[in-house]
Amino acid sequence: MCRKGQGTEYELEDRVDYTAQLDTAIAKLHEEGRYRTFIDIERTRGQFPHAVWTRPDGEQQPITVWCGNDYLGMGQNPVVLEAMHEAVDATGAGSGGTRNISGTTVYHKRLEAELADLHGKETALLFTSAYIANDATLSTLPKLFPGLIIYSDELNHASMIEGVRRNGGSKRIFRHNDVAHLRELLEADDPNVPKLIAFESVYSMDGDFGPIEELCDLADEFGALTYIDEVHAVGMYGARGGGVTERDHLAHRIDIINGTLAKAYGVMGGYIAASYKMCDAIRSYAPGFIFTTSLPPAVAAGAAASVAYLKRTPELREQHQTQSKILKTRLKGLGLPLIDHGSHIVPVIVGDPVHTKNISDMLLADYGIYVQPINFPTVPRGTERLRFTPSPVHGPDEMNKLVHAMDALWSHCALNRAELAG
Ligand SMILES: Cc1ncc(COP(=O)(O)O)c(C=O)c1O
Repeated sequence: MCRKGQGTEYELEDRVDYTAQLDTAIAKLHEEGRYRTFIDIERTRGQFPHAVWTRPDGEQQPITVWCGNDYLGMGQNPVVLEAMHEAVDATGAGSGGTRNISGTTVYHKRLEAELADLHGKETALLFTSAYIANDATLSTLPKLFPGLIIYSDELNHASMIEGVRRNGGSKRIFRHNDVAHLRELLEADDPNVPKLIAFESVYSMDGDFGPIEELCDLADEFGALTYIDEVHAVGMYGARGGGVTERDHLAHRIDIINGTLAKAYGVMGGYIAASYKMCDAIRSYAPGFIFTTSLPPAVAAGAAASVAYLKRTPELREQHQTQSKILKTRLKGLGLPLIDHGSHIVPVIVGDPVHTKNISDMLLADYGIYVQPINFPTVPRGTERLRFTPSPVHGPDEMNKLVHAMDALWSHCALNRAELAG
């Protein structure tokens, strides 16, 4: 028996066993074969996609990264690094405050102007990540538009789901890319309440495109706002890297464009681009924007340099698409079950978390090829996969090694699976 406070008594056996509960939660992941192991890697400046993996035994092994989202190798681009060095030398490390309290610098303003120009919008608003940009914006919109209903694609990213889930407003989930289902949902609601349709341009796990034009048509018909996540498209699609909405000349039909500075732009941070009034209202009401320290100036400087560079470097986008096409063709040639929607993402479906992890482990340990297994909840159970992200900095040698390794391992695992099934 233990005594706490004045006369309150607890039986020891009644107390919560927090450690046991943590053990149970972790054991569940092990049982389902989806306990996540982080691979300890070190990128070397100028060498990407080559990196060094510190193995569990402490040994260092050279590897090639095939699953990163630094899609164009911009995280190593000298223009970006120079801009970051200059800003660090000029201003120091952090921003020292929230945007409201001393954390707005010329670097933040310059980057927002660069992004507004990228999307042809009046202005842009920076966040510390695209996750926060989605969550903060979508959870704030019902405060600005009382009674707002958000119509959200069922495969929207977790950050959008979170924002919609906890915003206190109403939501309707439409089947993935199913415009007819969305129409049914819109028709069932009061025509006079505010509405917003939220979707993505490239869905990152299958690599399929959203039907942007048809969604915009529905939005026009039903008087809804449009919100698009272009996280897996900015920098990579469109004449200047403005995403699929730029490529398809649809940016003007989207009210709020969300993007990241952490993937094709190779740095960190997220944003929305929209009208002055929209950004002004989000800036003023979104806790995820207001109550957090702004990005370090050097990060903003590097991101601005990256966005500007990619506006004028379409050849990198072309090389990126070519690399994806070559890898898809070669993996298909081996008969691998590959999803191909014509985007840059190359998902090979394994369909079982344990097998996916085994193949990933063998690729890493035996071939020095790093591709992280993707499993639930990132993708539905039964569709566990290896998601390859070829880039312009993956050379022909690396591609050959990957294709040969997949050929060898796939046959090996198919045999094992057949034996297990038998
Ligand atoms: C579709 C989508 N939206 C948003 C994000 C979040 O982006 P960030 O890494 O900038 O937070 C991700 C990240 O993987 C994503 O896949």
